[in-house]
Amino acid sequence: MTASPTRLLLRKLPSLAGPLPDFDPVAIAEVPQDQFVIWLREAIAAGITEPHAMTLGTVDAQGRPDARVLILKDLDERGWHYATSRKSPKGQQIAGTSEVALTFYWPLLGRQVRVRGTAVDLGREAAAADFWARSAEARSGAALERQSQIMDADLEQSAADPSEVPGGWSVFAVRPDSVEFWQGCTDRQHVRLLYNRIDRGWKATRLWP
Ligand SMILES: Cc1cc2nc3c(=O)[nH]c(=O)nc-3n(C[C@H](O)[C@H](O)[C@H](O)COP(=O)(O)O)c2cc1C
Repeated sequence: MTASPTRLLLRKLPSLAGPLPDFDPVAIAEVPQDQFVIWLREAIAAGITEPHAMTLGTVDAQGRPDARVLILKDLDERGWHYATSRKSPKGQQIAGTSEVALTFYWPLLGRQVRVRGTAVDLGREAAAADFWARSAEARSGAALERQSQIMDADLEQSAADPSEVPGGWSVFAVRPDSVEFWQGCTDRQHVRLLYNRIDRGWKATRLWP
């Protein structure tokens, strides 16, 4: 069987070509949030485009997975924050099943971070703070509260800058149960470090690549 042109195209593309940094899984932070900030700063210093873009995985009412890219808004002891509409498909999926996953990929460093946990709505005050910090254009779009609905030609319109926070606007924090830091190596001896939440704090273990 001959290889398809697409397969040939893909086979020419390098992955984890390097040079890639070392990661010493012994010299690590006690909590995964702190380790994440160390890596985030290194991703910014390396010039990675949009290092705060992350993939949020959810499941719908039928148990079917879904995923999309969002922007990380903050990170603290409550977890990884993102802002969106509760009326969007992802918002409805989370209302049914709050267990979610986040993935970051920083190609220039060969690094991936995976977070599994529970999405918690941070309330109206957090939603308002996020909403008013957005640009006027972003506020107008959010005010329509139509994210992911079918756009009929006659409904193609943009709202004016709203005077109040849309009811569905929310900031969620993903409270982590586990966080994995994955450092790719050109020799494929990838280094994986998994933090699991235990009674009082975190336990970090190595995983086979
Ligand atoms: C780089 C990037 C950043 C994005 N940031 C956000 C965001 O912060 N919040 C959001 O609701 N959608 C964001 N989106 C759009 C989502 O990926 C998605 O299309 C939208 O939220 C609808 O998802 P849903 O239908 O699963 O609810 C972003 C997309 C990209 C590519």
